[in-house]
Amino acid sequence: MSPKDQGTDETGRRGPRHVAIIMDGNGRWAQARGRPRLFGHHAGAKRVREIVEACPDLGVEYLTIFAFSTENWKRTQVEVAGLMSLFRRYITKEARALRDEGVRVRFIGDRVRLDDKLIRLMDELEEMTAGNARVHLTIALNYGGRDEVARATKRLAQDVADGRLDPASVDEETLPKYLDTFVLPDPDLVIRTSGEARISNFLLWQSAYAEYEFIDTLWPDFSPDIFAGLVRSYGARDRRFGGVKA
Ligand code: FPP
Repeated sequence: MSPKDQGTDETGRRGPRHVAIIMDGNGRWAQARGRPRLFGHHAGAKRVREIVEACPDLGVEYLTIFAFSTENWKRTQVEVAGLMSLFRRYITKEARALRDEGVRVRFIGDRVRLDDKLIRLMDELEEMTAGNARVHLTIALNYGGRDEVARATKRLAQDVADGRLDPASVDEETLPKYLDTFVLPDPDLVIRTSGEARISNFLLWQSAYAEYEFIDTLWPDFSPDIFAGLVRSYGARDRRFGGVKA
């Protein structure tokens, strides 16, 4: 990368094209108000729309949000059922607005453990927004980075076994084609709210060169202004992709 490109990515843009968010802190936000954890998840769901709407003006084309991880099944049955019901309700309620605002919605993660009604709603939302391109919103649901790589590897191995893929040709470009995110660019910026500095199995392969922002704000308090601040401070950074500063 030449000196004039410092602070830009490989294509010369300044801001992050793809932002991924680990929306953490709903439970603590509710607890602080003496309310059940699901109250926090509902408050968190309301934030999603505002952040999606802020993307075009900030030059963010892709937004990927972590809604439910492969590890989240370990939560109480009440919380898991409440979250699943929230996802169904969210999709039903927001579908039209998302379509009309030019948002293309995709889901990543393993659908096997999700209920049929939720899967149907996910399929319908993907279909009805398939012609949009103003913002690409990807919702990670029953998603885990290791699980995704394992599922991808299984399909890759099957292609080798069936003679469709030559093992000698496998390189860094091969595996991403089998990942759930195969149509998405890698994230440039990963944000985690609530003060925890962990990536919790989110987009492990894809975030190899991402910048990270760990901020103390709990997800239900995450505002478009905070989002804009993080996006702008990203633009001031110097990404070298493993190279050296000239
Ligand atoms: C983490 O907070 C949050 C989740 C596991 C769920 C994220 C879900 C939403 C924001 C709701 C809606 C999303 C969509 C797409 C409708 P936590 O429960 O781990 O909080 P804690 O760390 O304070 O306990």
